[in-house]
Amino acid sequence: MPLNIPSFGSETTVSLPEIHSDDLGEIHIRPAKIGDVHGMSALINNYASRNVMLARGPLYLYQHIQDYIVATTILKSSGQECVVGCGALNILWSDLAEIRSLAVHKSCQHKGLGKQVVEHLIQRCRELDMPRVFCFTLVDGFFRSCGFTDFKRELLPPVVWTECSKCPKFFQCDEISMLYEVLSL
Ligand SMILES: CC(C)(COP(=O)(O)OP(=O)(O)OC[C@H]1O[C@@H](n2cnc3c(N)ncnc32)[C@H](O)[C@@H]1OP(=O)(O)O)[C@@H](O)C(=O)NCCC(=O)NCCS
Repeated sequence: MPLNIPSFGSETTVSLPEIHSDDLGEIHIRPAKIGDVHGMSALINNYASRNVMLARGPLYLYQHIQDYIVATTILKSSGQECVVGCGALNILWSDLAEIRSLAVHKSCQHKGLGKQVVEHLIQRCRELDMPRVFCFTLVDGFFRSCGFTDFKRELLPPVVWTECSKCPKFFQCDEISMLYEVLSL
């Protein structure tokens, strides 16, 4: 069977679908699968292009697929499954994980879906006996409503900076670091 890796110049760009809220079916949250990568990429990179989150290319998404969960729905008009939300839990060390790539499609915002995705990722921490999870964010009000509190970034261990150093905002970071205590130590 031939490999499905595109040759240079033959990649197809996946743009974020316009979705009307009337077109949404029931929404399910589940672990991400390979076939979700295009939808996740479109969702994340649409926000990344507006500088509100870090871009993620297909290589990163395939390699980290096991970190991701997605919220999907079957569109009433086409019967097609569509990724309308995603989020990832990245394990950094024995006592620290990070929430990354949290995004909810515009058509589904302000209905509690973002909070549900975060709750699923926190539940995953519990299953792993992971005591703490943090995030860097511009939407501190959202994370506060999910139970996160402000946490001085200087107190985060050096392992965090490996990812930060890949970020275009590294020298001018405007994101707030926030922490959630999953298990009482
Ligand atoms: C941030 C985001 C994931 C929130 O998703 P959502 O589904 O609209 O959020 P919810 O409906 O679950 O909101 C949960 C709570 O957070 C609050 N909230 C939602 N968005 C907020 C925002 N931008 N600022 C402050 N509070 C916010 C809601 O009022 C709600 O409060 P309540 O529980 O007291 O009613 C979504 O707006 C998004 O994808 N934004 C663009 C990408 C982004 O910024 N991602 C975060 C990267 S760290």
